[in-house]
Amino acid sequence: MNYTAALAILCFLFICTLKDAEGADKKLRFAKNGEFKILQVADMHFADGKTTSCLDVLPSQHRSCSDLNTTSFIQRMILAEKPHLIVFTGDNIFGFDSSDSAKSMDAAFAPAIASNIPWVAILGNHDQEGSLSREGVMKYIVTMKNTLSKLNPPQVHVIDGFGNYDLQVGGVHGSAFENKSVLNLYFLDSGDYSKVPFIPGYGWIKPSQQLWFQRTSQKLQKEYKRAPLPQKQSAPALAYFHIPLPEYASFDKSNFTGVKQEPISSASVNSGFFTTLVEAGDVKAAFTGHDHVNDFCGQLTGIHLCYAGGFGYHAYGKAGWSRRARVVVANLEKTDNGAWLDVKSIKTWKRLDDQHLTGIDAQVLWSKSFSGNRRKRDDGGS
Ligand SMILES: *[C@@H]1O[C@H](CO)[C@@H](O)[C@H](O)[C@H]1NC(C)=O
Ligand SMILES: *[C@@H]1O[C@H](CO)[C@@H](O)[C@H](O)[C@H]1NC(C)=O
Ligand SMILES: *[C@@H]1O[C@H](CO)[C@@H](O)[C@H](O)[C@H]1NC(C)=O
Repeated sequence: MNYTAALAILCFLFICTLKDAEGADKKLRFAKNGEFKILQVADMHFADGKTTSCLDVLPSQHRSCSDLNTTSFIQRMILAEKPHLIVFTGDNIFGFDSSDSAKSMDAAFAPAIASNIPWVAILGNHDQEGSLSREGVMKYIVTMKNTLSKLNPPQVHVIDGFGNYDLQVGGVHGSAFENKSVLNLYFLDSGDYSKVPFIPGYGWIKPSQQLWFQRTSQKLQKEYKRAPLPQKQSAPALAYFHIPLPEYASFDKSNFTGVKQEPISSASVNSGFFTTLVEAGDVKAAFTGHDHVNDFCGQLTGIHLCYAGGFGYHAYGKAGWSRRARVVVANLEKTDNGAWLDVKSIKTWKRLDDQHLTGIDAQVLWSKSFSGNRRKRDDGGS
């Protein structure tokens, strides 16, 4: 081996070590106040910044409005909510109108990066329409600063799409649950458009991705129920992807919170992911974007199906109907002597991009005691 090759190998090893150390630091966990908060940003549709105009704003707002309004909305949301994780659920950039996909992503994610808050992104159906392919976009995202996004699970050799991964959120540092993942997050690539002849429309979550989800969920549930500190229930989990499942059409205004102002644009076929989620049992809520003027959450067989509502100004919307973002917060149970345990409840609300970032539609998505009580009631009634 010559000197240069030896040096290259040494450098490689050194960088790997640095990366490992960084990765360990970046592990997500609940804050000292027993809270973990996620900000969801759906459909930024970011293109070229200042020169990219806004769609569907009031005529009086048109002249002064650009992608920079999307940027300032993220900055304001981060300041107002101080989330522990920011999740960008696809159509982060609008490839058709972007002159350089990498530059558009640099600008779109800049406020998240500047905040030093960990962030992740998944793909929508528009991200690849510019100078980078879907693989290229996701490969670029994973190199960006402060992101916990991954290209795909390293242990899986064949999986459809780009940007399928999970994240574990540990209990409070120093608590009994500090080494347990008390909240699990799944991120999936719901594709762009059908590639199958005779099946029109949008993409869907494929069997290979569902198999990965099932195995990951089983593994996490097994770990949670194992010593030390074996648990009876599974830790709650949340799933994020771009395109809504066909089951989002199961609701009307009598049984959802929020609004439905356009049809549910799911795939034209049902690939069964909802059934897979119900069967796995740990996911309590799924969050998508894609339909910008739907922003509701409805519950079907124990799982909340939620939209975030459109965030970006270069995305279609509805003039006079504010752009918005969804916040999810999980809170831990506290003992009488002040020690933090596992997750007690998961709540959500939205904020509008108006003068006061008005909060709307607060609701409880899941709660440990409630799910227990409900099961008792169900038993009693049968
Ligand atoms: C966009 O930002 C400009 C500059 O801050 C502001 O004057 C304008 O009201 C914003 N437009 C909308 C629709 O929020
Ligand atoms: C968690 O793991 C660390 C490192 O292995 C250990 O020092 C600590 O005691 C563990 N905490 C609990 C509550 O088991
Ligand atoms: C919501 O209510 C409608 C009737 O208004 C009903 O058809 C539908 O099944 C309900 N959905 C769920 C999930 O309960």
